Formats: sequence, structure tokens, C-alpha cells
Amino acid sequence: MVTVNRNYLKLPGSYLFSTIAKKVSAYQAANPDVEIVRLGIGDVTQPLAPAIIEALHKSVDEMANAETFHGYAPDLGYEFLRSAIAKNDYEARGCQISADEIFVSDGAKSDSGNIQEIFGIDNKVAVCDPVYPVYVDTNVMAGRTGDYNKKNENFDGVIYMPCLEDNGFLPELPVKTPDIIYLCFPNNPSGAAITKDKLQEWVDYANKNGAVIIYDAAYEAYITEENVPHSIYECEGARTCAIELRSFSKNAGFTGVRLGFTVVPKDLVREDVAIHDLWARRHGTKFNGAPYIVQRAGEAVYSPEGKAQLKEQVAYYMRNAHTIYHGLKEAGYSVSGGVNAPYIWLKTPNNMSSWDFFDYLLETAHVVGTPGSGFGAHGEGFFRLTAFGTYENTLEAIRRIKAL
Ligand SMILES: Cc1ncc(COP(=O)(O)O)c(C=O)c1O
Repeated sequence: MVTVNRNYLKLPGSYLFSTIAKKVSAYQAANPDVEIVRLGIGDVTQPLAPAIIEALHKSVDEMANAETFHGYAPDLGYEFLRSAIAKNDYEARGCQISADEIFVSDGAKSDSGNIQEIFGIDNKVAVCDPVYPVYVDTNVMAGRTGDYNKKNENFDGVIYMPCLEDNGFLPELPVKTPDIIYLCFPNNPSGAAITKDKLQEWVDYANKNGAVIIYDAAYEAYITEENVPHSIYECEGARTCAIELRSFSKNAGFTGVRLGFTVVPKDLVREDVAIHDLWARRHGTKFNGAPYIVQRAGEAVYSPEGKAQLKEQVAYYMRNAHTIYHGLKEAGYSVSGGVNAPYIWLKTPNNMSSWDFFDYLLETAHVVGTPGSGFGAHGEGFFRLTAFGTYENTLEAIRRIKAL
């Protein structure tokens, strides 16, 4: 008889956002007249920019003619997109990344979940706590962790790096040396950003210890401060220790369109094996490319019109971030994030648990946020609000919270 992958059984409950969705639907069903404002899940609300829509229309038309039709895309992605990425995201920032080190994908969720596959099962994994849940759950599924530890509310065998108020929500170099280190800056969920000097310490640490950093830069477009790096390759030596994940979801509103990429420098070698070759092999075997029309839409992100329109879109969300941040401060909350990131991280009042505060906010202000404890044990006592709502809804949510 068939056996199942029992590692999946180690995962407690359902995915965080499914739990939230169920709670919100139950509340809405019981209170059909209530208008709920959703600032929970990090999904965008603004339509695709005109330059992107134009590129989509044009490429859809190309698919209607035999001469311009496109079938399977090249394994790594189309050259036109990889070159645009290399030029705009890397060369322009002084990073030495070539087009053939870029692997186009359908988004950073899949890449951040799949990347662990090319590393040995015996590697020790370190994550920030709180953390984007995908990094941990996919390592659990792969069998790279122990069981769920109910007392600690985390998994045995994983190195958790607490990101707390007193360390500015930044991880400290762990006592036990990890092999794979997941870092995400600007951070989801805390909205914290790391300076170039601080990130350089991580790069030096990884190079010294032979570790690999998986750097998730999905929110780099939201950086407003000068000393915050957009890419880990702005740090010296990152080519020999870091993989970078990027997404078009948050900088260009592609959450429903699906596009992302992973950078694996050719200088990243472990056990005499080029990690680039392993990822190329995996990509070629298990992925058949992002759609041509979507890659053309991605190319438009880098056109002069696209850049100008997306700058405005990011500014729209950052106005929300500013509104939430200052509104909550005025209401007496302790808040962080929201300056280089579209997330605001607040301390729950009166030591309420994150889920109690979730219920309280839903029932009294009819506002949905995300309980910090859903991102890890050290998220307990915190709560995340996103800046991805509409401006009107954001204003309304803050008005209601202030009125509590
Ligand atoms: C840190 C982080 N990485 C990756 C993703 C997923 O991005 P994508 O939409 O490209 O799959 C998210 C989405 O919320 C995220 O917060």
C-alpha cells in the first residue's frame, strides 16, 4: 500500500491566511450588514499600470498569428526580460549580475519554497522569527526539521533568530552556525529594513562559515531610505554566498499575473558544485516557463513609462503606510515598519495575545489584520496591517481604530 509523506503531518493547522479567511467569512455570515475592511493578506488592490496593460494586449495579439506565436519559453526565461532585469535591477545599482544568472519564474512563493530542494537534507536552516511561513513549512515538508514543538510553538531542528523590539526587529548572528540562512528585507511581516552595513555582516558571516543566504527581496521597491540596500549583491562578497529572490507582485501588482525571478550567481559553489547548475537542472526539469505574454508584461515594468507609472503606484501604497503608521501612533499604539516596507507592525495593547487582538479588531472596528503569532512564536503580542488596501479603506480602518 502507498505511504504518504509524513513530514506533511508535522505541520500544525492550515496555512495562516486560510485560517483568517475562515474566521472572517464566519463573522461576515453572522453579521451580513457589517462592512469589513481588510488589511490582512498582502494582496494589492490597484489595477495594472497602463504600460503593462499595453504590453499584455500587444503580446496577446502576437499569439494570434503563426509568425509571432510563442510556445514554450526558454528554461531560464526570455532574453529580453532577463537583460532588462540585469540592466535595471543590478547593473544600475552597481551589482555584478549577468542575464544568465537570472531564472525567470512564476513568482517568489514558488521559488522560496522550491529552492531548498537543491540542498542536502542534513543542512541546518536558520530563519527569522517572526517569518514568512513558506521558508519553514517547505523545509518541514522536505524532512529537514524535527517535529512541531508545542511548548516552543516552533519546529525542533530549526534555528530561530528572534526579531524583537529591542533589536530593532533585526536578527542577530546565531550562536549555532546554520548552513542555510533565510533573510527577507524589507521584512514581511515586521516591515523592518536592514542597512547595507548590517547586511554586509551577514554576507561576511556566510562566507566565513560556508553558509548560503537565501535573500528574499520581494519588497525592495518600497525602500525609501538611502542606506538600505535593494539587493544583497550591493554587499561585497555576496556572489559567493547568496541567492536572491524577487517578485513582480508588489512592485508592479502581478499577484494575479504571476512573475518573479531568482538570481543564482555562478560564483556560488559548495562541495565543488555550482549551485547555479543545480537550480538550472531543477528549473529545466520541473518548470516549463512563465507565459510569454506575462514576460512581455514584465519587460514593460522596466520601460520609461512603466517605471514612472509604478513609482506612482508604490507611492500610493506608501501613502497608506504613512496613514496607518501615524494614525496608530496618534491612537497611542507602539508601531514600527511602514517606512521602507508596505507593512506596519504594531504591539497589541494591554498585552493582548495576537489572536485576541485579531478578534477584538474584527468585532469592534470590523478591520481585518494578521496576528503576529501566525508568523512565529516571537510574533506573539504583535499584529500586522498592510498598506495594500485602497486609500479610502485605509482611512476608514484608521478612523475606526482611533474611535475604539
Ligand atoms: C516575503 C515574501 N516573499 C514572497 C512572496 C510571494 O511573492 P509572489 O507573489 O511573487 O509569489 C510574498 C508574498 O506575500 C512575501 O511576502
